[in-house]
Amino acid sequence: MLFMRVNMSYLDGKIMNQYNLKGIYEDIWTSLESAVVDRHSGFHTFSLATVNNDTPENRTVVLRGCNKKAKMLSFNTNNSSNKINHISKHNRVSALFYDKDKKIQIRFIGDASINHGNSYCQKKWDSMSKQSKECYYQNINPGDTIDSPDLVKSEIKEEISSSFSIIDINIIKIDWLHLSSLGHTRAKFTKENNFQGEWIAP
Ligand SMILES: Cc1cc2nc3c(=O)[nH]c(=O)nc-3n(C[C@H](O)[C@H](O)[C@H](O)COP(=O)(O)O)c2cc1C
Repeated sequence: MLFMRVNMSYLDGKIMNQYNLKGIYEDIWTSLESAVVDRHSGFHTFSLATVNNDTPENRTVVLRGCNKKAKMLSFNTNNSSNKINHISKHNRVSALFYDKDKKIQIRFIGDASINHGNSYCQKKWDSMSKQSKECYYQNINPGDTIDSPDLVKSEIKEEISSSFSIIDINIIKIDWLHLSSLGHTRAKFTKENNFQGEWIAP
């Protein structure tokens, strides 16, 4: 009976390897690896939550890196943005992904580290489009109060901007949920449990 339900949800959601926890775990990383380069993927952007003193804050960012072996997710950001300040003080973060076509939500908890002005940033910068680079040559810092939006200018420069940072999130917990009219399925994978996977009630 259980087999039937999971098998049906596989057909329904077109999800690979959903028969077992190991398959789900593999699928999480494979989907995110392809989402880095596929801007049409539902997982290409995610919501990053940081803690600002006692207050949670969320914002959308683009997934720029995914490394299954290192259990790492990465995104680029402006070094003067508020999230950098939050992470500097408290590096535990949450990353929320939802692909509405796959009907899959993935919630990560991890520890963020800030990379700035090193060879890793330089390599990433060299691979970026001119349009992406422009965001890091803005004359006013993100989050600053301004008298008018017209005051914000930016330019395109080839050399690496001092505003450019890469945030790596070292994952310690994954909560995976698949919605299906035939029955929802949920699992968790924790560093504590060596990412073996455990079924949990949806
Ligand atoms: C679709 C989308 C993608 C975004 N991608 C990024 C990103 O990759 N990095 C980033 O720092 N901000 C990104 N932003 C802007 C952030 O959501 C946020 O407004 C900005 O980083 C300031 O956040 P903060 O003040 O909390 O640091 C994106 C916004 C949207 C709507």
